[in-house]
This record gives sequence, structure tokens and C-alpha cells, in this order.
Amino acid sequence: MSARGITIWRFAATLPDAHPRADLRRMTTPLIALPAEVMAALADCGLLGPGEAPMGQALSGGVSSDIWRVDLRQGPVCVKRALPQLRVAARWEAPVSRNAFEVAWIEVAGAINPAAVPRLRGHDARAGLFIMDFLEPARHRLWKTELREGRADAAPAAAVGARLVQIHAATAGRAEISQRFPTDAIFHAIRLAPYLEAAAEQHPPAAAALHALVLATANTREALVHGDVSPKNIMLGPDGPIFLDAECAWYGDPAFDLAFCLNHLLLKCLWAPHASEGFARCFRALVESYARGVNWTRWPLLEARAARLLPGLLLARIDGKSPVEYITGETQKNLVREFALVLLLAPVMELNLVLGRWMRELPA
Ligand SMILES: Nc1ncnc2c1ncn2[C@@H]1O[C@H](COP(=O)(O)OP(=O)(O)O)[C@@H](O)[C@H]1O
Ligand SMILES: [Mg+2]
Repeated sequence: MSARGITIWRFAATLPDAHPRADLRRMTTPLIALPAEVMAALADCGLLGPGEAPMGQALSGGVSSDIWRVDLRQGPVCVKRALPQLRVAARWEAPVSRNAFEVAWIEVAGAINPAAVPRLRGHDARAGLFIMDFLEPARHRLWKTELREGRADAAPAAAVGARLVQIHAATAGRAEISQRFPTDAIFHAIRLAPYLEAAAEQHPPAAAALHALVLATANTREALVHGDVSPKNIMLGPDGPIFLDAECAWYGDPAFDLAFCLNHLLLKCLWAPHASEGFARCFRALVESYARGVNWTRWPLLEARAARLLPGLLLARIDGKSPVEYITGETQKNLVREFALVLLLAPVMELNLVLGRWMRELPA
């Protein structure tokens, strides 16, 4: 990194496509002027040619960052800048420095498996932004969209499990990696507090169980955790799943990543009920491929932690500070609440037991 906080990753130039396949979104999203800091960072990172002054296109989906597609002469890139205040209804602050930890996570994970992350192009630590390759929609689908449309194939789920455990296994017990992520406080502020502790406030009978879960999770320091392994942060590309949005990166309990992702597969059963059986297959495939790669600890120990976290995270997505947007009816909310509360008070140790019970709870 330079004194100005700039890091540049250099590659052989990617020639712009002579006939770029303009997707519909690209043509319909308005072009906007980029903030001066973004233009300066693009220049400092050597990405602008003489006289080049690109415009940006805001990408949707982000709640915690400004994120733009920028079409440079040398090809499209994606710029991500952390916002000081998240765009969610409940007040929820997160330090902008998390942007640098996202860059660090991408670097570490990319050294383990370059196909699992977007390629980094530049980082301006002072401006709190970084630049990565833009993943072309023509070749990359958001996993969330696939699931929403009922395409619940087990293969991508198994690939997600395999890539996730590969990153966990390669970082487990590595003090030099742990030192790059002094993020215990950030992880508490943006994961444990708004999810598990906020749910505890709403459910006094389960508060002790939820606080015990927070403590057990916070005190487990085993591997590099992504912290937001959600289908909305996973792109399925020609070389497999790509993890985005690592700003919750933490050196801690890998069971959190596993449970966090499985939680989304359970909740999707209420969003696209016709595909529930497919989501259950995804769940089992992900667990199986993940378990196969666990070599730094005994799988049953990790599985038991994930199986305890799962009901906590389910409850958190109904009554925490970041409720899922697609469960709005009280009947569905109560189904999740009752299911989660029973399991929080009488935990099971196996993930497939949680799944089996969930599938029996779902309306026929
Ligand atoms: N490198 C990229 N290429 C293409 N699209 C991207 C890229 N990074 C993010 N996106 C899109 O922008 C959305 C928001 O990005 P994300 O990193 O998840 O930000 P936030 O922290 O605000 O959720 C993603 O869901 C994805 O659709
Ligand atoms: Mg995201």
C-alpha cells in the first residue's frame, strides 16, 4: 500500500469486447456522475486512460454500501464504497473500516481459490472504497434470484458448501490470518447484536439461550469467517459460485457462515413454497459437501454449533434488526417464531434434524 492508502492489483490488460453484449439492465439503468473521490481512486489506481471520464450506474441490492458499475475503456469494473449508516429501517451503525476488511477477505480467499471471489483491481483505503472486476450479468446469475424463481438445484448448493469449507479449512488455526482481522467488535456490532441480541430483546423466554449463543460464537476463534454468506451475496458463474460482500469478515466461528447460509435455504421455503423440496435438497447437499471438507476439527462439534445457531438466526430474521423482506404475514412469522423458540430451548445437534423438523412444520 502507498502512503496515500492506495493498493493496485495489476493484470495483463483485458481488451474491451468490440461488441459488448449490452444486457437490458445496463441499457435501462441511468448513467450518473461518479463522486470526486471515486474518480480520484480510479485515476490513482491507474484505471483511467488519458482524458477518460467514465460515468457510473448504481447497482441495486446494496443496503450498506454505494456500489457502481463503471464502464472503463479497458472493460467494466465495479466500485464499492461503504456507507456510514446502513439503509435499513432500524438504526444500525457499522464502521466504514469494514470496507478494508472486505478487501482483506477477498485477498485471503482469492489466494486459496481465485475462482471464489471477484478479482480485485484497486483499493483506496482513505476513501473507504475498492474496485473489483464487474461480473457480467450475461454470465453470472445471483443465487437468490435463482432460488426465488424456484430453480433450487442441489449442484450450486454443493459447490457453495465445498468452496466455503475450502476457505475455512485453509485459514483454520492460522495466526497470521487471524491478525489481519481484528474485527471482533465490528462482527459483534453488525452480526451478533442486530441479529441474536435484538431477537433476545423481543423474546425474554429465549433471551438466556440467545445470549449464551452470542457468547459461545464470539469466543470461538477457529477460521476466517465471511459473515454474510447469503444467496443475495453469491453469484453463480461459469467457474462456480463467487462470494461477494465480505464486509462482516471475522476470524471466528466457521459454524456461523454455515448456519447463516442454511438459514436462508429454510426461509426460502416460505418465499417460494412450491420449491420447498428443492430447497431441502440444497440444504442437504450443502451440509454434505461442507462436512466432507472439515479437516481442522471434528465435524460433529462444528455441526452442533451450527445446529444451535440456526434457530437463533431464524428468529433473528423475523424479530431482529434486519428482518427478511419476503416474510410479512403474521401467520408465517409465527410459524418461524414457534419453530425457533422450541429449538432454542431444546437444541438438537444435527443439521438434518433441524431440516426434518422444519419440513414437517411447513404448511402442506
Ligand atoms: N463485482 C460485481 N459485479 C457485478 N455485480 C456486483 C458485484 N459486486 C456486487 N454486485 C451486485 O451488487 C449487489 C450489492 O453488492 P454487495 O457487495 O452485496 O453490497 P451490500 O454490502 O450493499 O449488500 C450484489 O447483490 C450484486 O447484485
Ligand atoms: Mg450484499
